[in-house]
Order: sequence, then structure tokens, then C-alpha cells
Amino acid sequence: MSTILVTYYSRSGNTETVAKAIHGALAGAEILPFSQVNGLDGYDFVFVGFPVEMHSLPYPVELFLRRIPAGKAVALFSTHGSLQGHRLSREALEYAVLIAGQAKIAGTFHCRGRLSEGARTALAKSPEHREWADMAVSAAGHPDAADLEEARTFARRMEMLAAHGGY
Ligand SMILES: Cc1cc2nc3c(=O)[nH]c(=O)nc-3n(C[C@H](O)[C@H](O)[C@H](O)COP(=O)(O)O)c2cc1C
Repeated sequence: MSTILVTYYSRSGNTETVAKAIHGALAGAEILPFSQVNGLDGYDFVFVGFPVEMHSLPYPVELFLRRIPAGKAVALFSTHGSLQGHRLSREALEYAVLIAGQAKIAGTFHCRGRLSEGARTALAKSPEHREWADMAVSAAGHPDAADLEEARTFARRMEMLAAHGGY
């Protein structure tokens, strides 16, 4: 059986909620906020989750992804305020795949995550953030039950790959 770690960075709890759903769908996996991870040697497969921030990844996550050992099997997931499937909700994840290019990326998952009305209004004042911040009005209530069910399905698919797919 492969050893699986679910690790995440989360400022306001949305990514943590998704990480817990993923962890809950896996038999015998570990879950740790990524600041508590001391190396990945003991794990065959690692889920890494983060919120989209300023069209990108939080910097500590970027550093973490760059340091993943070559060949390590990894699944990435993110939460975002912008609409599901929109370019603005995918760009950070695509960048994450790029910078973790030394790892073997088995799959990705993303879903919406609410942000406080105060933060949303403040960020919407900047021209470079208005588009996603306007979309984020309808992220209220996310991640919801359907998001978490999809996250669990993603987790089980990745687990199958980890066990049988050569990852
Ligand atoms: C400072 C800040 C910047 C953000 N930038 C973006 C962004 O560029 N695009 C986007 O879709 N969502 C953006 N969001 C929304 C977050 O990605 C979303 O609320 C996420 O679910 C937060 O996850 P967390 O609770 O795990 O921190 C931003 C939120 C904050 C607070």
C-alpha cells in the first residue's frame, strides 16, 4: 500500500476544508498543514493544496513546489473566488503544474472558495483584481457539499493511480 500525504496552505479555511475532504476519502493517509511537513521521503504520493492569491500561488507554496524531489508523484488542488472553469480560476494551477515540473503530476482539482465581503470589496477596487473579485460574489457558500463530493471523487481516482497506475 502506498503512503499518502495530504498537505495544504490555507489562510481562511477553504483549502483546509477541501484538504480534509480529500483526506477523509483516503484510507490511512496523513494530513498536515504544509508548514509542518519535514521532507517528503516517507511518502509515495503527495496531495498539495493552496488558495489562488493575486492570480498566483502564495509564495511559500511556490517555494514548496519548487523543492519537491524529482519524480515524486503529486496531485495539486486549489480553491479560488473566480468562476469554476474560467481562465482566472485555472491560471494559478497551470503555473503550479509548471513550477513543480520535476514532480510527476498525476492530476489536478479546483473548486470555488468564499472570501469575506470586506476583503472582496477592497480587492475589487484594484483594476487588476476587479474581474475575479466581481465573480467572487457568487463564491459565497463554497466549498459546498457538491464541491467536497467532487474532491472526494478526485481523491479516490488519485489513490487508484497511486496504487495501480505506476505513480
Ligand atoms: C488576498 C487575496 C487574494 C486573492 N486573489 C484571488 C485571485 O487572484 N483569483 C481568485 O480567483 N481568487 C482570489 N482570492 C480568493 C481565494 O482564492 C479564495 O477565497 C480561497 O478559497 C481562499 O482559500 P483559503 O480559505 O484556503 O485561504 C483571493 C483572496 C484573497 C484573500
